[in-house]
Amino acid sequence: MAAHNVFPESRLPCPSARRELTTKALLTPPKQRIVIVSNRLPIMLDRCDGSGWQAKPSSGGLVAALRPILRERGGLWVGWPGAADVGDTELAEVGEHLAAHDNPRMRAVPLNSEEVDDFYKGFSNGLIWPLFHDMPKICRFSADHWRAYCRVNRKFAEVVAREAAPDDVLWVHDYHLMMLGHELSRLRVSSRRGFFLHIPFPSLELFLELPWRQQIMDSLLSFDLIAFQTDRDRRNFLQCADALGERFVVESNVKLDVRGRFLDRTAADDKAWSDIQIATLPISIDYSRVAKDAASDAVQHRALQLRVDLRGRRMILGVDRLDYTKGIVHRLRAFQLALERHAELRGKITLVQHLVPSREKISDYAKLRCDVEQLVSEINGQFSEPGWVPIHYMYHSLSWEDLLAYYRIASIALITPLKDGMNLVAKEYCAAQVEEHGVLILSEFAGAAAELKTGALLVNPHDIASTAESIYQAFVMPKDERLERMRRLRRTIRNHDVFDWAEAFLSAARKKSARSDARAGITPSSHNHRHGMSRA
Ligand code: UDP
Ligand code: G6P
Repeated sequence: MAAHNVFPESRLPCPSARRELTTKALLTPPKQRIVIVSNRLPIMLDRCDGSGWQAKPSSGGLVAALRPILRERGGLWVGWPGAADVGDTELAEVGEHLAAHDNPRMRAVPLNSEEVDDFYKGFSNGLIWPLFHDMPKICRFSADHWRAYCRVNRKFAEVVAREAAPDDVLWVHDYHLMMLGHELSRLRVSSRRGFFLHIPFPSLELFLELPWRQQIMDSLLSFDLIAFQTDRDRRNFLQCADALGERFVVESNVKLDVRGRFLDRTAADDKAWSDIQIATLPISIDYSRVAKDAASDAVQHRALQLRVDLRGRRMILGVDRLDYTKGIVHRLRAFQLALERHAELRGKITLVQHLVPSREKISDYAKLRCDVEQLVSEINGQFSEPGWVPIHYMYHSLSWEDLLAYYRIASIALITPLKDGMNLVAKEYCAAQVEEHGVLILSEFAGAAAELKTGALLVNPHDIASTAESIYQAFVMPKDERLERMRRLRRTIRNHDVFDWAEAFLSAARKKSARSDARAGITPSSHNHRHGMSRA
């Protein structure tokens, strides 16, 4: 992937513009430093042809959501720089470039190639990713991979232990780092710690399939706050905690609704020491920035060009990392059926499908690419006419302006994951719809469906026939209905943007609790003495 072909830093507005866009984020000044810990850093290092390293932005929803938070608040990001045997020295080598690109302060956790194979490709993406996305048939169970997972989580913990101060808030992200809680406790790191899972949490039956379920659950329960994308994920987690949590009978919990309001309480069998908050906190986007950039001259110009290229035809848009959870084959089949059943669509609508390269060295991903390309060519062979090819397929990363231009002019966004933690593309599409004329077709199995169901056409991606009918329904939908639905969608996303999400998480994570006091060496008696109160 050429460096110029990935998100350019034009994605980052100048500081004054940023301040204007994100006043919400600045209303509550940071009280404590945030240390973000995730497998991915916001940049990936890549060896240049000659020698030395170049940095390119990482793709995916985790980095897209967290980048604006750290940029606004400052703090530290601990993670893997995306290539084997790369550490702080190599990060420093590209330092000049990074400063110019306004990236946050970073600390590398270097992984050797065996760790990349066993921890990243093996345990994280060969087992946890498919299991948590309800695809147990393709899971690969390996005790070696589990050992590597624990070793690498320990490595992350060692870097965090070196960097973190007691007053920092540690914000740990995603399925690669579920053993980090255990390792941080082992190293007696006393900072407050929260965990956010970006992907779905599985049902009890699936979680119990993990031979290492007890260790993972115990480690997760050592966080002060654990947050999930949807109520369903949170409920699944609670069931598993009930079944496996020995010391923590989680009978009642804290829940934050989408507006970040506390609904409930703390509880545990050991009331003095084991309070833990378990929250539903759907992640979001920097709505103002997307909407503003989408309305910019550069994007407007690009959108005009695209309209000319489409020669008046309407566009259905798909943008996904090439991943088997995204339901790409199902989507193509639904489009094929829509063309078969509704001849009036032929020649009038074009499916533009962008697939962003992802995890290319994992065999399931390489095979999926072949399957998708074969199906695209089958459908194009079946329906193409002089002057019209039904599917424009691109395997690449997009620049920010290009992505926004596609979002802006697409008549329909077709987002059909078989299972997805949230799906930020759905939210970005709506935010970029400045003319508010587009229709969002969204899988009911995307986390985003919980918030966007009132404006989107929800589909079951396994039901190819009904997805095909939804494509037709979107195509013929009257303008008034489109406008009304899109306005509703945009309002929902605007009212709960990524800064609200971060504030809700961080304020919950900052909450004092008996267990955080315990880690900091404050005993109940000294605490009570200091505060002149007694603990129930
Ligand atoms: N995206 C990207 N590179 C691209 C195209 C899109 O990084 O070439 C971004 C996109 O803007 C969105 C994220 O990738 O913010 C995808 O997030 P989503 O939650 O939809 O899915 P994920 O990839 O995290 O599974
Ligand atoms: C999803 C995961 C992230 C991950 C991203 C890209 O969004 O939740 O944790 O970073 O995909 O995948 P990659 O394997 O390239 O990090």
